[in-house]
Amino acid sequence: MLTTNPFAELANVSELISPTTMQIYAVLMFLLVVGGTILDIVHKKSMKYFNEYTDKAAAKATRQVSAADMTGMRVKVLTSEVLTSSEFSNQKRRMSHLLTMYGFTLFVITSAIMIFFYGDASGGKTPAIWPVLWHLGALMLCVGGYWFWFAIRVDVAAEGKKWYDIAPKADMFILSLLGTCTFALLWSFTSGAGIFFLLFLISSLFLFGGVYWSKFAHMFFKPAAAYQKKVLEANGHNQNLPYVPDLSSAEVHEKYPDIPTYMGKNPPNMGPGIRREPANHY
Ligand code: HEM
Repeated sequence: MLTTNPFAELANVSELISPTTMQIYAVLMFLLVVGGTILDIVHKKSMKYFNEYTDKAAAKATRQVSAADMTGMRVKVLTSEVLTSSEFSNQKRRMSHLLTMYGFTLFVITSAIMIFFYGDASGGKTPAIWPVLWHLGALMLCVGGYWFWFAIRVDVAAEGKKWYDIAPKADMFILSLLGTCTFALLWSFTSGAGIFFLLFLISSLFLFGGVYWSKFAHMFFKPAAAYQKKVLEANGHNQNLPYVPDLSSAEVHEKYPDIPTYMGKNPPNMGPGIRREPANHY
């Protein structure tokens, strides 16, 4: 069962769902993601804001960042923020995000391979690796996603809301992700088109067609935001946040005599207060 290409089985169940129909559906989903993301950018003016903010920050920069440093920061964003979800301080949330992200990536890539290369009569010849990875991807997403839904998300973990309290727009992304992969597994395990296939199609339509309203596009925006944050730290703008000066320097003591009076000449750096309590919620 785990080694069967469920898309190739479809044609056996109903003549209506030919390999070409599934290919058209997949292309349509791709176009919906592109269109939804563009509409989102235009509507929120995020690109305009991003560029304006970058220009303003460049004008206030106190340090020059070299092209080599910029490349280094891009690599760091890719290897750290993107590939290892390093922005999450809460390690459970990070694990759940990694499972969801890699699960979804595996699921989408293997779906495309099975639909476009092995969706027709050659379905029986689909190398076992693709359906196995497809099931694994869906399962990883379900483990990470249900963990997030029932225990980790802020509404439940910090606000004390019940898992079944749904905020339609805010939860559309996670629920449509979960629906798509859960119904995909159920459809595959029951070996038929039927109700689970229909629910799979409906969930995926919400997932890929709802980009404009949901949090789907964060996967494109978050890396850009992480890169911008790094550049602003490096060029001295620091998002208009104050720098904590060296508390043992004579210059600071002269400016703020309270410091040596109450904390001594060489006060310890106590770090940001926010880090004193472990990040349990977010
Ligand atoms: C296949 C790609 C991805 C999937 C399926 C995915 C999935 C998710 C999910 C389900 C959430 C929780 C959303 C919610 O609060 O309802 C989330 C949040 C988040 N993701 Fe992703 N993600 C992906 C890619 C990325 C990438 C590439 C980055 C960053 C570089 C990223 C950074 C974040 C961050 C920082 C949050 C927390 C957002 C917040 O609480 O406002 N994600 N992601």
